Amino acid sequence: MTILVTGGAGYIGAHVVRLLQQRGEQVVVVDDLSTGEAGRIGDATLVQLDVASPEAADVLTRTLREHDVRAVIHFAARKQVGESVEKPAWYYQQNVGGFTNLVSAMEAAGVDRLVFSSSAATYGMPSVSFVEEKLHAEPINPYGETKLVGEWLGRSASRAWGLRFVALRYFNVAGAGWPDLGDPAVLNLVPMVLDRLARGERPKIFGDDYPTPDGTCIRDYIHVLDLAEAHLAAIDYLGVEARPFDVFNVGTGTGSSVREVIDEIGVASGLDVTADIFPRRAGDPPQLVASPERINEVLGWRGSKALPEIISSAWEAWQAGPRRIDV
Ligand code: UFG
Repeated sequence: MTILVTGGAGYIGAHVVRLLQQRGEQVVVVDDLSTGEAGRIGDATLVQLDVASPEAADVLTRTLREHDVRAVIHFAARKQVGESVEKPAWYYQQNVGGFTNLVSAMEAAGVDRLVFSSSAATYGMPSVSFVEEKLHAEPINPYGETKLVGEWLGRSASRAWGLRFVALRYFNVAGAGWPDLGDPAVLNLVPMVLDRLARGERPKIFGDDYPTPDGTCIRDYIHVLDLAEAHLAAIDYLGVEARPFDVFNVGTGTGSSVREVIDEIGVASGLDVTADIFPRRAGDPPQLVASPERINEVLGWRGSKALPEIISSAWEAWQAGPRRIDV
């Protein structure tokens, strides 16, 4: 079967591409290489394209037909919350516009299986400890809004022309499945701490006065390889007809605090990770942890790797990269 992966040269996308290749699938990657790297996709066919560009719907339609694609996994999108607050129209153009092009092309080419990268950012600031998919989604930034709109478009297309659609709401992704596939961006806690350590600086903690046991924010960290496997489970799930639309949290149900994550980086690296405390960052909920019950039951998927393994794999990948830290 040929599967098209948009954003397949990126951090999570490249893990999915490698797993698909290991399973013997043919893979076509569509990526503009703005953050992704061509060297990460092995022998997959690369179509260099910005899915939000004016010509994208036509190029995607042709690509789907030429390669006889049967299913699509869609990662290509912008994912920085702060940037989305600064440039909302551009986020909608990139994320919603790009996804609209893809869904149009799939309809035109008659491709009806789609897995969509959604986010826990769709929930906003939930007041419950463990979020379930049925909770009212109320994103608090344009990034989360674009993901929720994407879910709505998937649902509408499933009603209109029979698209089979799964949205996966990722919680906090970290680690590396292979040392050459580490997270190349310094945008989230684990790479941000490693980046500080690489500069000989102390990690930062944004707020230690939250109503949590150690005062720092709690998140549900998921190993990127576990997350990648959830996509394969979703593609298989959609292989059965009469499954028009579904949404799943991809998390473990276990929360870890910022301090626990930083301490674990100290254990993996052997470095002094004493942190400096900074004021709270705007828009951070004190706790965001998934209820993974639905994905456990329906897709038979379960996060298998706990925090120590996530962090040690992130450390190993960091050390295999260009900014190795002397220990
Ligand atoms: N943090 C620090 N110091 C740092 C970096 C982060 O204390 O140097 C804290 C943040 O304030 C937050 C926690 O670490 O409390 C996690 O922050 P991240 O930026 O790594 O992740 P977020 O939980 O803010 O957001 C991430 C993704 C979003 C996604 C969301 C879903 O970046 O795209 O998870 O939970 F929507």
